[in-house]
Amino acid sequence: MSSGFAIVNCAQLVTLSGPARPRTGAEMRELGMVENGALLIRDGRIEAVGGREEIERRLSANDTVLDAQGRIALPGFVDAHTHPVFAGTRCAEFELRSQGATYEEIAAAGGGILETVRQTRRATGDELFEAALRRQQWFLRNGTTTVEAKSGYGLALDDELKILRVIRRLNERGPVRWVPTFLGAHAVPEEFRDNRRAYVELVCEVMLPAVASEHLARYCDAFCEPSAFSIDETRTVLRRAASLGLGLRVHADQLTCSGAAELAASLGAATADHLEQTSDAGIAQLRAAGVQPVLLPASVYALGRTRYPRARDMIEAGLAIVLATDFNPGSAPTPSIPMVLSLACTQMHLTPAEAITAATINAAWSVGLGHETGSLEPGKRADVLVADCADYRKLPYFFGVEHAWVVVAGGEVAFRR
Ligand code: NIG
Ligand code: FE
Repeated sequence: MSSGFAIVNCAQLVTLSGPARPRTGAEMRELGMVENGALLIRDGRIEAVGGREEIERRLSANDTVLDAQGRIALPGFVDAHTHPVFAGTRCAEFELRSQGATYEEIAAAGGGILETVRQTRRATGDELFEAALRRQQWFLRNGTTTVEAKSGYGLALDDELKILRVIRRLNERGPVRWVPTFLGAHAVPEEFRDNRRAYVELVCEVMLPAVASEHLARYCDAFCEPSAFSIDETRTVLRRAASLGLGLRVHADQLTCSGAAELAASLGAATADHLEQTSDAGIAQLRAAGVQPVLLPASVYALGRTRYPRARDMIEAGLAIVLATDFNPGSAPTPSIPMVLSLACTQMHLTPAEAITAATINAAWSVGLGHETGSLEPGKRADVLVADCADYRKLPYFFGVEHAWVVVAGGEVAFRR
C-alpha cells in the first residue's frame, strides 16, 4: 500500500457529496457537511471521508497527517471560464476606462481583444508558457485546482495552435488540471476586417480540423455578439466544431440580448456563458435543453457595469448554474473565485452555499469532469482547499482576503501559506 496523506481536525468538511450530476434548485444549498471531519488521500485520490476517529483508525505508520486545527476543507475550486494565455496587459485601456471610456468604444477603435492579439502574436510559446505558469500560481493561491482555458488571442492558425500547445504543456506539467477550449471566433482579426466570411471559413475549414486532429481542445467556444460574431456565424462555427467531436460553449448575451442563449440551447451546448442580458425565453430554453449557465460577475464588476445576470431567476427555473472568473486581460483581470463568490452573494443574491456549489461540483460537471473532481468523495481526484477560517460562509463574507491555507491538487500539496 502506498503512503497516504490525511487531513484531520476540520471544523467543517464541506464535501458537496450527493447525486452524480449537476445540482439544481434546493440541492444547491446542500453542502454535505461533516463537522469535525477528516479525509484520507492515497495515490492522488480520495480514499475515505468521515469523522476524525474513523480516518485515524485507517492510518498506517508511514502516512502523513495534516492537522487543519479547526479550519475548513472543501473541494478545490473549478474555474470553468478563463482566457489565461496572453502576452502583455491592457493597463492603458484600464486607465482610459477609469476616465469614462467604454469597453465597446475601445474595441471599436482597434483596442480591446485585438490589442492583446497583437501582443500575443509577437510572443513565443515559451514566453507565453512562462507567463501562464505565473498565473497558475495565482489560481492555486486562491484555491483553484481545475481551470478551463480558452485560446482566442491568436486568431491565425499558427498563433491559435501556439496557445493551445501552451495549455497542453501546462496540463502535462500540473499540478493544476487545465481543460482546453478553442476560441478562434473571439474577434475578427484586422487582416480580415473587410472579409469576415473568409475568416469564418478559415476557422471552420482550417483551424478547427487542425485543432481536432492534434486533440488540442475538448471544447469550442465563440463570442456571439453583434460586435463580434452574429448568430449565423456562431452557428456555422459551432456546428462544424460539433461535427469534429468537440463540446460547445458560447459567450452569450453579454452586452446585448441577441438570442445567443436560444442558439446555445438549439445547439445542445454544454454551457452558455455571461447571460447578463438574457430574456425569460432564453432562460426557459436553456432549461429545456439542459445547458448550464456560466455566470461571470467579475467581468460586470470590472467593466464598471451594474447589470448582473439573473442568477436567482435561473435557480428558480431549475438551471444548474456555475460561477467562474472569466480571467482575462480586458474585462476580468482576476483569478479569484473567492472574489466571485462575494460578488455572487452581494450582487446576485446567492447564498454562500449556492455560490460554493456553483464554483465546485456544478463547475466540474460543466467542464466534463463531474466524475473526477468538484466534491470530496471516495474515488475522486484529491483536489482540496483548506481555508483559514472555521465557517464556510466566511469565504464570501471576508472579501479581498487570501483564504487559502493549504491547497492540494491531485494529492500533492500545491500551495501552502
Ligand atoms: O469573456 N467577451 C469576450 N471575451 C472576454 C473578454 C476578452 C478580452 O477583453 O480580452 C470576456 O469578457
Ligand atoms: Fe470570456
